[in-house]
Amino acid sequence: MVKENTELITWNNKLSCGIKMIDDQHKKLIILVNEMFKHVTGNEIQEKDYFNRVIHETVNYIKVHFSAEEKIMLITRFEGFAEHKKEHEKFIISVIENTRDYEAGKRYTLSSFTRFLKDWILSHIAMMDKQYFEYLKRIASLKEDGKMSISMNDMPNV
Ligand SMILES: [Fe+2]
Repeated sequence: MVKENTELITWNNKLSCGIKMIDDQHKKLIILVNEMFKHVTGNEIQEKDYFNRVIHETVNYIKVHFSAEEKIMLITRFEGFAEHKKEHEKFIISVIENTRDYEAGKRYTLSSFTRFLKDWILSHIAMMDKQYFEYLKRIASLKEDGKMSISMNDMPNV
């Protein structure tokens, strides 16, 4: 039985960066993790079956999201871009390795895999993403209209 009304992560405004596209993508990631958590039933066969059905879509979505963030950081000339991109790459590698371990029955249950995703996503938004949110807010505050839109004209002259 799938659990109803159970959220592992609840979206709150502290997670918001002020850019709708990025917020929407973070919300979708949270939905994917919460869906996974709902399927933690204790029945190993059902859990693995669910995992196999969704893991590729999940990894693909994470990649789509990372490349959107990287594009924004690149066009806004965010100085932490290289370090941030490296964190994304490391995470993708851990997801792939952990997926292999889970599939091979070496480590992980659906529950611990879900928590691994949750812990990474929340700490990444709070610590890494926050740095470019702050940077973009600074750029916006320098503009006359104070708006957080991104266009090449808004970029600082470097
Ligand atoms: Fe990020």
